[in-house]
Amino acid sequence: MSKKRIFSGAQPTGRLHLGNYLGALKNWVALQDDYEAFYCVVNLHAITLPQDPATLRQATLDLARIYLAAGVDPEKATIFIQSDVHEHAELTWILSCVARMGELERMTQFKDKSQKGGRERSSVGLFIYPILMAADILLYQTDLVPVGQDQKQHLELTRDLAERFNRDFGAAFKVPEPYIPKAGASIKSLQDPAKKMSKSDENEAGSIFLLDDADTVAKKIKRAVTDSGTEITFDETRPAINNLLTIYQLVTEKSQAECVEQFAGKGYGQFKGELAEAVIEYLRPFQERISTYDDEALNTILKSGAEKAAAIASKTMLDVYQKVGIR
Ligand code: TYM
Repeated sequence: MSKKRIFSGAQPTGRLHLGNYLGALKNWVALQDDYEAFYCVVNLHAITLPQDPATLRQATLDLARIYLAAGVDPEKATIFIQSDVHEHAELTWILSCVARMGELERMTQFKDKSQKGGRERSSVGLFIYPILMAADILLYQTDLVPVGQDQKQHLELTRDLAERFNRDFGAAFKVPEPYIPKAGASIKSLQDPAKKMSKSDENEAGSIFLLDDADTVAKKIKRAVTDSGTEITFDETRPAINNLLTIYQLVTEKSQAECVEQFAGKGYGQFKGELAEAVIEYLRPFQERISTYDDEALNTILKSGAEKAAAIASKTMLDVYQKVGIR
């Protein structure tokens, strides 16, 4: 039997943080053995907000490097840049004619992201961003999409668009399922556990970036806010410690019970010290690998990735064009 297919992506904007790693990348690596995997650097998504062109170009390559350093294996998984496969933009147009204003108006991420500059001044691209994401996924007849919690609503829209197109024009798309991990799907800010850890957070102390050095990691964890009470347990009503302990659990791969037992009767100070050490150790191999891929090696991987991706995407696109009467 042929393997089921997974698709996921991340934006080359800002610096990747531990939330991206634990919510998404870690699972991409875990799933690549059992699935036929496609991991995309979504640079077309990046320009829904203003970007400096030279920075974007570099960040796009750097993000592919991060995928590799995190353990995505180009022998097993297909890594490519979204703009290298023109069908992503083409299918976005077709799906824009299938999607409804009302359903996009309900997207909470647009509401969040448009808040800063104001809705009136937001790009139309930011508004239809979830349609581009649906196109990414549907082009590959994807079975499963490993993402963090913040992408769940976009996945629901993707399913709705696929079902509507299939109903109105004939079956062109597989309807994908989200894969959202039980632990780590929403890593919170170290400074405000009511908010998710985010690339766009102005308070740097809230995020552990994947390329933070050991000193910085230790300082950020030391300064992380905690809740009232002293016990170190998994408890949703104490979101700060719950978040820190979740990070500890994921980077050490221990069970919840083991973690709780380990810190029973211990204070925040000692816990934070051990957490910092565990995070630093967890990131070390990744940080060592990041410089091992030079631009030439990277470009070879990305070129072959784009060819593999385009072979599938073009088939889906031809079928879609035929079904809507364009070809
Ligand atoms: P992006 O670039 O914001 O984030 C990449 C991945 O990281 C996850 N994530 C988190 N997980 C846990 N805790 C957090 N604090 C946290 N912050 C981010 C995200 O859920 C995501 O899985 N729209 C997507 C990119 C995209 C995509 C796709 C994903 C475009 N097309 C197709 C899957 C399939 C995004 O902006 O992710």
